[in-house]
Amino acid sequence: MTTPSRDPLKIGIVGACARGANFKLGCDAVGLRIAAVCDTNADGLAQAAAALGAPEKFTDYETMLDKARLDAVIIGTPMPLHVPQSIAALEHGVHVLSEVPAGVSMDECRQLVATCAQSTAVYMLAENYTYMKNNILIRELVRQGLFGDVYYAEGEYLHELKEMNEATPWRRQWQTGIAGVTYGTHSLGPLLQWMPGDRVTRVCCVDAGQRYKDPRGEAYAQTTPVMLCQTAQNAVLKIRVDMLSNRPHAMTNYALQGTDGCYESGRGGPADQPKIWLRALSEELRWHDLDTLMHTASFAEKYLPALMRNPPPAALKADHGGGDYFEVLDFKNAITGAAPCPIGIHEAMDMTLPGLVSQQSVLAGGRWLEVPDSRAWAKGEPEQQLHMLWPESKLGTPPHLPVPDGYVLRQYTDADHEQYMALMIHAGFTDWPRTRVKDTLRFILPDGFFVIEHCATKALVATAMATHNANDLHPYGAELGWVAGDAAHKGKKLGAIVSAAATARMIQTGFRHIYLKTDDFRLPAIKIYLELGYVPLLFCDGMAARWQAVRQALAR
Ligand SMILES: NC(=O)c1ccc[n+]([C@@H]2O[C@H](COP(=O)([O-])OP(=O)(O)OC[C@H]3O[C@@H](n4cnc5c(N)ncnc54)[C@H](O)[C@@H]3O)[C@@H](O)[C@H]2O)c1
Repeated sequence: MTTPSRDPLKIGIVGACARGANFKLGCDAVGLRIAAVCDTNADGLAQAAAALGAPEKFTDYETMLDKARLDAVIIGTPMPLHVPQSIAALEHGVHVLSEVPAGVSMDECRQLVATCAQSTAVYMLAENYTYMKNNILIRELVRQGLFGDVYYAEGEYLHELKEMNEATPWRRQWQTGIAGVTYGTHSLGPLLQWMPGDRVTRVCCVDAGQRYKDPRGEAYAQTTPVMLCQTAQNAVLKIRVDMLSNRPHAMTNYALQGTDGCYESGRGGPADQPKIWLRALSEELRWHDLDTLMHTASFAEKYLPALMRNPPPAALKADHGGGDYFEVLDFKNAITGAAPCPIGIHEAMDMTLPGLVSQQSVLAGGRWLEVPDSRAWAKGEPEQQLHMLWPESKLGTPPHLPVPDGYVLRQYTDADHEQYMALMIHAGFTDWPRTRVKDTLRFILPDGFFVIEHCATKALVATAMATHNANDLHPYGAELGWVAGDAAHKGKKLGAIVSAAATARMIQTGFRHIYLKTDDFRLPAIKIYLELGYVPLLFCDGMAARWQAVRQALAR
C-alpha cells in the first residue's frame, strides 16, 4: 500500500469533467494535492485539468492507477462505475472516496465488501448530506441523549431531474429506469447517523405507478417510491425519493422522533423553518425555531462541534451547506490515520443496501424483505448465500409446468442479447451484463438456456439457465442459475416454468446433484423453488436459523 506519510497526499479525481470537479475546494482547503484527473471526455479533460490544477491527465482510469502513483482517488463517475473503480483502486492499495450510492447491485456490493476486507487502503462513501449543518447538529443532540430513545425518522429527496436524465443518460437507466429506491443515501444516510449502532434489517417499498414519460414517450420505471424500513433496534424509517414529479426542490426533508424530542427540517416552502422540540428546552410541547437557537451563542457553543461553530472560509464556500468540505476533511483524517473513517464500507452498505432490496420489494408487490448485513459478508464465512437442493427422491419425476396461452418457452439465441440484458437489469441483476455474461455462458448445458417470449410483443419476459457448475460443496453439481422474470407479467408462473424447464434439463442430462443459490431477501423466488420441490441445504452454522427466518417471512 502507498504510505500516507508524504504531505500533501496525491489525489486522483475520476469523473473530473463533472461532479468530480466539486471536490477541488475541499482538497485545496484540507491540503490534499490533486495530482491527476481522469475522464473519458477527452475534449473536456484539458480544461478540467487546468481548472483543478492537476499536472497529469488520463482518459483511462486503469492507466491513471498504474502510472500516477496516487495515494487516493475520488470517484465522481456515473453510479454503475463506483464499484468497479473502487475495487480497482483498492486492489492498487489506493484509498477511495466514492460518490453515492456505493453500488448498484447486491452482487457488486458483496464484491466491494470482499475487496475492502483484503485491502489495506481506506474506503469511504462521500455521503455529503450527512455533513449538512443541521444534520450534524441533530446527530450531536442525539449523541448527548437529548432526544431520549429515538424510534422514528423520515428522509425525502424530492428533486425533479427529468432534464438531467437527458443530459446524463446513465441516470435514465440507473436512477429512473429501475423501480424502487435507486438514489436513497442522501435521505437514509443522515437518519442512520441519528441512530448510532442501528441498521436497517428489512424494508418494503411501493410506488404510485408510472406517471411520467421521457421525451421518447417511454414511461420511467418509477414515480415516487416510498420505502419503509425497520431497524435492528425496532425503529421505523420512511424514505421517499422522487426525481420525476413536477414540483419545486425539497431534497433535504428530514424528521426525527424520540421519547424526549422531535425535529422537522424546513421543507423549502415560504417561511417553512426547521423546528425542534426537546424536553430539555421546554417541558411544554411546543416548537422552537432551530435557526434562532443556532444563533443563540449558548446553544451553538454547547451542542455544535467547534469546527462547525467557527467554520473556515473554505467550508462556508463549499457546496451542500459546507458538507463537501467537511467530508473531504474526514477522508483526509481517515487516510492519514488521524481519525477513524466515519462512513467506511459497512456504513456505506447500511446506507446503500436497503435501497437495492427496495427494488426487489417493488417487484414483489411491496413485500417486506430482509436486508443483508455486510458485516456478516466480511467475516469470510465459507458461503454466504442460501443453497437449495433438488432431492434425489425426485430425480425420477422432473418438474414440468404448462406454458400459458400467449407465451412461448424456447432456447435463447444470440438475437435475444439486448432484450436479455434489459430483462436481467429490470429484474434487479444490475451488474449482470458487465461481469457475468462471458463467464456464465461457458457453463450452460446444451439446450439449457431457457427464455419465455411474450407472443404479442415479442418481449423476453422470463429466463433461467441449466448449468454444470461443480465446486467443493457441490462436486459433480449442476446449478439452476439466473432465474429472472418481468414483473409486468406477474401471476403467470413464468419464473416457475423456466425454473422447472432448467431443472428437468439437468435431470435429463444425467446430473444427480442439482442445486441453486439464492439470497434470504429473494422471498418470491424462494417461494417458487420450495413449491417446485427444492429443499434447503443446511451446510454451515447459522443456516437453520436463516431458513427459519425465511419461512417466517414467507408466512407473513
Ligand atoms: N453527492 C452529491 O451531492 C452528488 C451530486 C451530483 C452527482 N452525484 C453523483 O456523482 C456521480 C456523477 O454525477 P454527474 O452528475 O457528475 O454525472 P455526469 O454524467 O455529468 O458526469 C460523469 C463524468 O464521468 C465521466 N466518465 C464516464 N465514464 C467514465 C469512465 N469510465 N472513466 C472516467 N470518466 C468517466 C464522464 O465523461 C463525465 O464527465 C454520480 O454517481 C452521481 O450520483 C452526487
